[in-house]
Amino acid sequence: MSILSNFLSFWRSLNPKAQLYHLLMKKTLVLKVDSNKPEIGKIRVAARFIHNGGLVAFPTETVYGLGADALNVAAVLRLFEAKKRPLDNPPIVHICDLKDVYRLAREIPSTAGEVMRRFWPGPLTLIFKRSNVVPEVTVADLDTIAVRMPMHKVALALIRESGCPISAPSANLSGRPSPTSANHVLEDLDGRIDAVLDAGPSTVGVESTVLDLTTAPPQILRPGGTTFESLKKVLSTVELNPVVTAEEALPVDKARSPGLKHKHYAPNAEVVVVEGELLAVIDKTNELSAFYMGKGSKVGVLCTDETVGYYRAEVVKSLGSGRDLGTIAKNLFGAFRDFDSKKVDIIIAEGMPLEGLGLAVMNRLRKASGYRIVKAKKNGKGNATRSK
Ligand code: TXA
Ligand code: MG
Repeated sequence: MSILSNFLSFWRSLNPKAQLYHLLMKKTLVLKVDSNKPEIGKIRVAARFIHNGGLVAFPTETVYGLGADALNVAAVLRLFEAKKRPLDNPPIVHICDLKDVYRLAREIPSTAGEVMRRFWPGPLTLIFKRSNVVPEVTVADLDTIAVRMPMHKVALALIRESGCPISAPSANLSGRPSPTSANHVLEDLDGRIDAVLDAGPSTVGVESTVLDLTTAPPQILRPGGTTFESLKKVLSTVELNPVVTAEEALPVDKARSPGLKHKHYAPNAEVVVVEGELLAVIDKTNELSAFYMGKGSKVGVLCTDETVGYYRAEVVKSLGSGRDLGTIAKNLFGAFRDFDSKKVDIIIAEGMPLEGLGLAVMNRLRKASGYRIVKAKKNGKGNATRSK
């Protein structure tokens, strides 16, 4: 099909209101879509943009992604431009069919089959050696590629209808917290991308786990929605790269972790993470809060349902029960954005346990803080007092 007839059939697929909106407003087209039964007409409108080299944000179970045809160099360059993302940080390539792995990757290790069967579709990204069909820009000149099959009906339908693998980093401006709703996407990218498929909030809330299968043993480069514990049950050995649990900025091996030297997940507010035994954390947080309020800063505290009553600060926000790390993860990035909209200057965040999804949450919190980590020590009194 020629470019002209492609465009005409895309254009005819829009209703007159959408045509006018797109033409006049230079705004991003918002397509509300059912997350369980995605309306195929709307998916085709979005797929047409991708097919024609455009950019479409779409929901996944982890966070919203910003999609472009992974095999179209101009489209991928447009993706970096829209996000203001450095060209040396490659996006993840999203697929809807296992066969695509064998097209995009080579030297696929024997362990991969079982991992893909158990965890795909789902919040797990796998690093393989790449094949020659992948343009260099898509993988930032690396000889490896990050591949994931997401578990969201809208994402899978979009990939299928687009007829190509979709490069999709998180749909935020580079450095900002990842978006867990279409509104978050529009906050950062309205007018910079063609369309967003809005299927409501993401259910996992932190990005996928990145697992490098090019090394023996396989290594987790980024903790995320698939837990270390669940991977250990399937792989005989799996390691955590030191950056996963780092408490300070470590020197980065660009080929292993290309994105890590760039700032991530950060709200506009400064972030401090307070870690340690819970009563000591509460005391230390209140001490820091008083200190910053005394300096005239607007202070926010990020905590859990169990501790929310103990803090004295202008904005105190619970992420959910500390016993439910899934809910904590789901609410994390939205809370960052909320603090920003309330013009908070400094966020003091309670540390979470480094287990299950807590590992991903703590990795995001510590990075957002630029590793400003305060270790709270018991003062012997255990004198946390609940505010009224
Ligand atoms: O859940 C997710 O993973 C979301 C949704 C949209 O799927 N996507 C996402 O993409 O978080 P992005 O681009 O924001 O993060 C991709 C991560 C980065 O840390 C990048 O450095 C790493 O994957 N990555 C990409 N290609 C890589 C490669 N060849 N080797 C090692 N790491 C790679
Ligand atoms: Mg990202």
